[in-house]
Formats: sequence, C-alpha cells, structure tokens
Amino acid sequence: MTTWTPHSWRNLPIQQQPQYRDQQLLTQTEQQLHKYPPLVFAQETRDLFSQLGQVAEGNGFLLQGGDCAESFNDFNAPKIRDTFKVLMQMAVVLTFAGGLPVVKVARMAGQYAKPRSSDLETINGVSLPSYRGDIVNSFEFTAEAREPDPARLITAYHHSAATLNLLRAFAQGGLADLHQVARWNMGFVESNPLKERYMSVANRIQEALRFMEICGITAQNSPSIRETQLFTSHEALLLNYEEALTRRDTLTGKWYDCSAHMVWIGERTRQLDHAHIEFFRGIHNPVGVKVGPGMQEDDLIRLIDALNPDNTAGRLTLITRMGADKLADKLPALVRRVKQEGRKVVWSSDPMHGNTVKASNDYKTRDFEAILREIRNFFAVHKAEGTHAGGIHLEMTGEHVTECTGGAYGLSESDLSSRYFTQCDPRLNADQVLELAFLIADTLSAARK
Ligand code: PEP
Ligand code: CO
Repeated sequence: MTTWTPHSWRNLPIQQQPQYRDQQLLTQTEQQLHKYPPLVFAQETRDLFSQLGQVAEGNGFLLQGGDCAESFNDFNAPKIRDTFKVLMQMAVVLTFAGGLPVVKVARMAGQYAKPRSSDLETINGVSLPSYRGDIVNSFEFTAEAREPDPARLITAYHHSAATLNLLRAFAQGGLADLHQVARWNMGFVESNPLKERYMSVANRIQEALRFMEICGITAQNSPSIRETQLFTSHEALLLNYEEALTRRDTLTGKWYDCSAHMVWIGERTRQLDHAHIEFFRGIHNPVGVKVGPGMQEDDLIRLIDALNPDNTAGRLTLITRMGADKLADKLPALVRRVKQEGRKVVWSSDPMHGNTVKASNDYKTRDFEAILREIRNFFAVHKAEGTHAGGIHLEMTGEHVTECTGGAYGLSESDLSSRYFTQCDPRLNADQVLELAFLIADTLSAARK
C-alpha cells in the first residue's frame, strides 16, 4: 500500500464526479478553501468516535437524519430549527423507549453533493448534465444552471458554517431543553388509531421529568437536561472539497476531515481500489459506508478491513439500504459473517434508499409502510443473529412536506404534488418521522428484552 496523503486519492479512478471546464479556477478555489478555518474541531470528532464505540458494543443507539440534499435557495432559520426539533423529539422517544443513550447525528451542514444514476438528464428530447447537488451545479433545467461551478465549493462552505453555527446555538442555548422537546408536536396523533399508545409514552416521559424535578434535577442546575450534543455528517462525495478541509490535528498529529464530524461513502462510490476508499482510509473521523443488497460477504470483510484495519469500535458504521424485502433475505448472512470474523462495527438501517418507487403520477416517492417494514426486518435480523441493531439513518425534514406516502394522515399519491419540495429524494415529514419514532420505540424496547 502506498503512503496516504490528503491528495493521494487523485491517483486512483473515481466515480460520480463533475467535469469542471475551468480547472484553473477549481484549483484556485481549493487553495482558498484550504486556508479557511475548519468547520469542526478534532476533539468533537473524537467524542463522536467514542460514543459510536459505545454503540458498536451495544450500549447506545445512533440516530442519523436530515435532508437528502440541502439547498442553497431554501436556506433559512425556520427550516434548520424545525429539522433540529424533530430530531430531538425522535431522540427523546427512542432514548426513553430503548433505555439507551441516543447519539444524534444530523445529515446537515454539508449535505450538498449527490451521486446520480445517470450523467445526463433528458426532458422532452433535451439532454443536460444531471443535477449533482448545490455544491456542484444548480437544480434548474438549463444548460447554464447545470454547468459545474467551482465557486459553489465556497458557497457550500459558508452555508455549512452558518447552519452549524445555528445548530450549536440550538443545542446549547435552550431549544434542546428536555421540557421543551417534550412539548410534542403531537398533531399526528389526533386522527390516529394508535392514539392511546402514543399518549401513554408521551405521558410517561412527562411524568419522568416531573419526578426528576421534584428530586431537584432541573434544567437550571443540570446541563444534561438543558443541553445536548448534536454532531454533523454528510456523504463525502466531492473529494476536492473534502481534501481542502482535511487538516492535521495539532494535539495528536492525525488527519481529520474537518468538514463534518462523521462522513460516509455512498453505495455507488465504495469500490475498493477507487479514490473514495483511499481518501477515507487516511482520515481519523468515524466513517460510514452504505451497504446495498448486492453486497457479498467476502467483499464486505475486505471493505471493513480497508476502512478499519485496526478493528476499532466506533470507527465504522455499516449503513444497510436494501429494501424491505431484500433485507430480510440478504442481511442475515452478512451479519453472521461479520460477527464470526469478530469485526467491530455499528450496524445502522437506512430504510429509505432501497424503497424508492415511482408513483403513477411520476413522482419519486417512498411508502411509510415499506420504510417501517425495512426497519422492523432490520431489528428482527439482529435479534435472530444476537447482534446489536445500532441505529437508523433517515431522509427527513421538520417541514410539512408531502413526499412520502402513508403514515397516520394516509398521504396518497394524489397528495404528493401539494408540497413536494425535495431537490432529490422524498423525505419523511415531521408527523411521519415522529410517528415512526413511536412505532420503532416498541421494537427497540422489545429488542432490549
Ligand atoms: C443518500 O444517502 O442520499 C444516497 C445517495 O444513498 P446511497 O448511496 O445509499 O444510494
Ligand atoms: Co437520498
């Protein structure tokens, strides 16, 4: 194996990258970015690493969620706040039900680069480069908008910095106070046949808080009630950007990708001898890798060894995204093999990307039932194999969008057009995501027994 440097990935084949016309401008932009301050501090990243180490050992649960793709246009405080809130609400339900600490990781403050199934998009006989996320080009279907623009790397950096700034303020400044969080957005409950069950969980949480207060544990005197720790993550697809934010930590001398606390490799860019694996092997962040239904046992072990040669718990999260039915078929052998070989990983379920379908009116959507079923199958497989179902990875938003069908309000295909705002994949809305938390709370507590 050759020596790793932040740029050694450049010698290897790479998938899913934009073709920049102005290479000189790209290089200048990278140099500029390289001088900018890091977005996260290595010590925070090490904190997340050790918390994920606990998850890998079965003593925690990872909740990772946010937009499929963040957007430069739709960039405002309410949107960030609402997604933050719904993540916190979910975390409280899961902590309470599962009796385990929940590690909270937002798919925010940097989720700007998207892999695509095709290089070109064709509409009415016109073909243009595909939209690859706001860090690369723009969503509108014009030749100008679709031209990859290096200046977008800088814009992505500033948007990420502002988002992270607000997330930190929310986490430390009162919005994460358990009493606030427990004042549920319970809108979804009203029309729901399972209303009684939801209310009973919500009431028990309120009761626990009142009990603690009587014992003198209040938001005023206990930071753990008032504050939380929320980490950031994104798919580190555009390596020009990731390299520019990769810095050597002065305390340890190790390299960290300081664009986020955790970064992951997508399903389409995890070839062993390609650039993404090379880049990831040298950074010391906790990393994730997506695992689709086509993954073979031997290849998975090779992938694990490439990314986590020292077998350190917390370093590697395997994010399975197979589809509700395929998962039940494919996951057991993989889990068994990883366990047999003693590899320490966090197993997390992305129930979104294997369940994408086209509605009859052509909208890309996902059905709430399929999402729930993939999660339940994921828990069932781990229970059967005696391993820890360690987390979930969701595409979700705090906004009241209509992008996924189903859920308590029974969103149908004909509802999709009313508030379909995603620039990429369909997300669960605030009601659907909270409902999902309550539904998997049962599964989680059953898994603990
Ligand atoms: C994603 O997480 O948005 C994504 C593209 O996932 P995958 O790589 O699993 O397809
Ligand atoms: Co997606």
